[in-house]
Amino acid sequence: MNFLHAQLQPSPLQEGGHSAGSSDHAGVSTAMLEHMGFPYELPALPYALDALSPFISETTLRFHYGKHHKTYIDALNKAIDDTEFEAMPLRALIQATAGKPGQATLFNNAAQAWNHAFYWDSLAPGGAGEPPPMLKQMIDASFGSVEACKQALTEAASTHFGSGWAWLVLDGKKVSVVKTGDADNPLTRGMTPLLAIDVWEHAYYLDYQNRRKDHATGVIEHLINWNFAASNLA
Ligand SMILES: [Fe+2]
Repeated sequence: MNFLHAQLQPSPLQEGGHSAGSSDHAGVSTAMLEHMGFPYELPALPYALDALSPFISETTLRFHYGKHHKTYIDALNKAIDDTEFEAMPLRALIQATAGKPGQATLFNNAAQAWNHAFYWDSLAPGGAGEPPPMLKQMIDASFGSVEACKQALTEAASTHFGSGWAWLVLDGKKVSVVKTGDADNPLTRGMTPLLAIDVWEHAYYLDYQNRRKDHATGVIEHLINWNFAASNLA
């Protein structure tokens, strides 16, 4: 088996104790996943399943992480086996298959595998609060205030039509909010993702049913991990 992650070093975020690991998959961190080649592994959730409650319940996380994310990883391993992409790290695989109709299955599962790992890190128990100074300065320059940025993120997460994602990104020198459909992500547009909010129904329906805006507000006001966003500026 080709466990490339064994050669990888944890990011400063993991060294800081962010990746506590609460599952049976504690061997691989979310940050390690994007550098990993086949076979990809479900990374450890960086907090306990009930740590985001009441804004995201344990039941939702159990299904979202243990079933949906795992299924994307399993489907990716099945689709990539014995192909020319087998040795490719996940981030490079996403960029190599984006926009190629013949590689849609590979792209969709690779992107969803990466998007979810990034999403788990975008949330933190007791998150929200104020962004670190450098990020706050950039947000103020781009949006006018952190509050305006949060409103733009809430609006994007609430109004995106169908399944997809709302993102805080670095686009050139500007911090922006973008929406992507289905599995797509800002890596395919040359942008640097800073934060992700999953707006697929499986992310909130058990807790909020059709009240997606309530879910988005709960996440953005209480769980957003600004430290993770700031770490992605480098
Ligand atoms: Fe999801």
